[in-house]
Amino acid sequence: MSMASSIAPVYGNYHGYYSKRPFVRDPRLSLLPPSFFTGKAVLDIGCNEGWVTCEIGQIWGAARVIGVDIDETLIRGAWKRRRSLWSQQSPGRDVMERNENDNSSGVFKRSKLDRVTDSHSHYYFPASCEHSHESLPIPTDTIKEGHFPTNVIFRTADFLAEPVSERYDIVIALSITKWIHLNYGDDGIKQFFRKVHESLNAGGTLVLEPQTWETYAKAKRLDEKLKENAKHLKLHPGNFPTILQNIGFGPPRHLGSVGEGGFHRPVDLYIKL
Ligand SMILES: C[S@@+](CC[C@H](N)C(=O)[O-])C[C@H]1O[C@@H](n2cnc3c(N)ncnc32)[C@H](O)[C@@H]1O
Repeated sequence: MSMASSIAPVYGNYHGYYSKRPFVRDPRLSLLPPSFFTGKAVLDIGCNEGWVTCEIGQIWGAARVIGVDIDETLIRGAWKRRRSLWSQQSPGRDVMERNENDNSSGVFKRSKLDRVTDSHSHYYFPASCEHSHESLPIPTDTIKEGHFPTNVIFRTADFLAEPVSERYDIVIALSITKWIHLNYGDDGIKQFFRKVHESLNAGGTLVLEPQTWETYAKAKRLDEKLKENAKHLKLHPGNFPTILQNIGFGPPRHLGSVGEGGFHRPVDLYIKL
C-alpha cells in the first residue's frame, strides 16, 4: 500500500500527471539560465513520476538529482521513466555546440550544455522498441559518476516527516505548496519552508512554483479533511515571500510564468543567505 494511500489524490499525487501536462522539455526549466544546474546537487520535492527530475539529470548537467515523492506508485513510475529515457538515449554524443541563445522571449534556450546526449534528436532505441522488448538494462560499470542515468535517484518519503540528512545546491518545489498547505496547515507550510532552508547549502537556491490561492478552492473539495483544514488557513501564497525572507532567504527573483490554462503559474528563485 502506498504511503499516500487515499483514493482521492489529496497530496496532488495525480497519476498520469504528465499526460495532462506533457512536455519534451519542461517550459518551467527553460526559464532558468542554461548553466543553472551544471555540476549541482539537486533535490526535487514532490517529483511525481520524475519527468522534471530526469530532465535536470539528463539534459541540464546536474551532478546528482534526487527526486522525493510521498506516493510510492509514482516513485515506481519515476524509476521507469529513468529507464525509458536511458533506453532512448543515443550513445556517445559528447558536447553538442549549439547557438540557440535566443532570449528574445525571455526564455533561455540551451547552449553548449548538452554534455552527454540529446535523447530526442536520435531515437537510438525508440519507444516502440522499448514497448516490445522492454527497457535496455543500465550497465553498472561503464557509466561515469555524475552522468545520466546514475546521477538520478528517487525515494518515497513524506518530506515533512523526515529529518534533513543532506544538503543540496538547489531545491526544486514545483506545484507542491498548495498540497502541503492544505494537508498540514499554516504551521505545515512554514515547517516545509524551514526544512527547505535547512536542506540547502549557504548560497543555495530554491526554485519555487507556488499555486495561486484561487486554485485552493477546487483542491479542497477533494476531501473533507482538506476542506476542514482550509477553514483554518490564515496564510495565503501571497505571504510566502515574507515567510521565506523571515526564515533566511533573500527577496524573490521572479522569472516569469509559463504553462497553459490552470497551469499558468509563476516560477520564483530564492537564495539562501
Ligand atoms: C501536483 S504534483 C507536482 C509534480 C511536479 N513537482 C511537477 O510540478 O511537475 C505534486 C506532487 O507532490 C507530491 N507530494 C505532496 N505532498 C508531499 C510530501 N509531503 N512529501 C513528498 N511529496 C509530496 C505528490 O505526491 C505529487 O506527486
